[in-house]
Amino acid sequence: MMIRARRLFKDVSDLPTIPAIVSRVIAKLDSPEIEPDEICDLILSDQVLAARVIRIVNSPLYRPTSQISSVKRALLYLGFKSIREMILTSYLIEGFKDRLQSFDMKLFWMHSFGVGALSRHISEQIGYGDDEKAYLVGILHDIGKVFLGHYCKEQYGRMLNGISNTSLTTHEAEFETFGTTHCEVGLCLAQRWNFPSSYCEVIAHHHSSEFSTEDRLLTAIVCLADFFCLSHDSASEVAQASIPGDSEENAWNVLKRFSGESVGVSLEHFLSELSDRYQEISREVDLLFKTMVVEPA
Ligand SMILES: [Fe+2]
Ligand SMILES: [Fe+2]
Repeated sequence: MMIRARRLFKDVSDLPTIPAIVSRVIAKLDSPEIEPDEICDLILSDQVLAARVIRIVNSPLYRPTSQISSVKRALLYLGFKSIREMILTSYLIEGFKDRLQSFDMKLFWMHSFGVGALSRHISEQIGYGDDEKAYLVGILHDIGKVFLGHYCKEQYGRMLNGISNTSLTTHEAEFETFGTTHCEVGLCLAQRWNFPSSYCEVIAHHHSSEFSTEDRLLTAIVCLADFFCLSHDSASEVAQASIPGDSEENAWNVLKRFSGESVGVSLEHFLSELSDRYQEISREVDLLFKTMVVEPA
C-alpha cells in the first residue's frame, strides 16, 4: 500500500508547501529551550505571519478581553504550544485552499476540526498530557484525503458517488480504487512536511490503531474521536458511520488500560458520554472554521 501511495506522489510537482519561516518557528517552538524574544523576532521577520497571528489571536476563537496588538502579547496570551498549533493549522488550510476538490472542503474541515476538538477533550479527560498535540493531530488525521481529492479528482469523485448509501467506508473504497488509502497517502505528505513521528503514526493508523507502536494512546484518542464524529457528522461525502471494528475496539482497550474506570464501563457508554459534549464542541468547531478558513473582510 505504501508503494502505491509513494507512486501517486512521484508525479506531483506542485505539492503545497509550508513556508520556510513557518517551519523555523514550529521547530523553535518544539525545542526544549524556548526564548520568547527569539520566537517573537522570528515571527516579526515575516509581516504576513505576524499579521496572521494578530488577526487570529483577536478572533472570537481566543476571546481576548482586550485587543492584542503585539506579537509578544499574543505569545504570552496563547502560550507556546497553542501558537504553534494555530500557525500550523492556518498555513495547512491555506495550502489547500484554492485547489479544486472532488468533495466539499467545508464539510472536510468541519469534520477535521470536530475530530481535533474531540481529541483534545478526550486528552483532557484521561490526562494524556499534551492536549494541544491531540488537538492538532486530530485536525490533521485525514489530510491524505485532500491529496487524493485534488490530485485524483475525477476518480476520487466517482468513488465517493459510488459509495453513498452503501456500507463501504471511505478508506475501504479507496483501497479498492487506488490500492492505497488516505492513511498511507497522508503519511507520505506528513513525512514530506517533516511532521514529528507521532503525528505521522496517527495519520497512518487512525483506522488501524492496532498497528500503532510509538504513541498508542494518542492514536487511540484520535481513532475514537474520529469514529464518534463519523457517526455524528452530516458530512456523508467524506465520512460514514460504521459499527466499531478492530481499530476502535483496540483503541478502547488502550484507553481503558491507561485511565482505568474513569472512562466508563464500555465503549458504548464512553461514546454516549461524548454525545453530551457534542453540542458545545460543534459550536467551537463552527468558530474555528470561521476563524481559520473564512478570510477577514
Ligand atoms: Fe480517516
Ligand atoms: Fe476522519
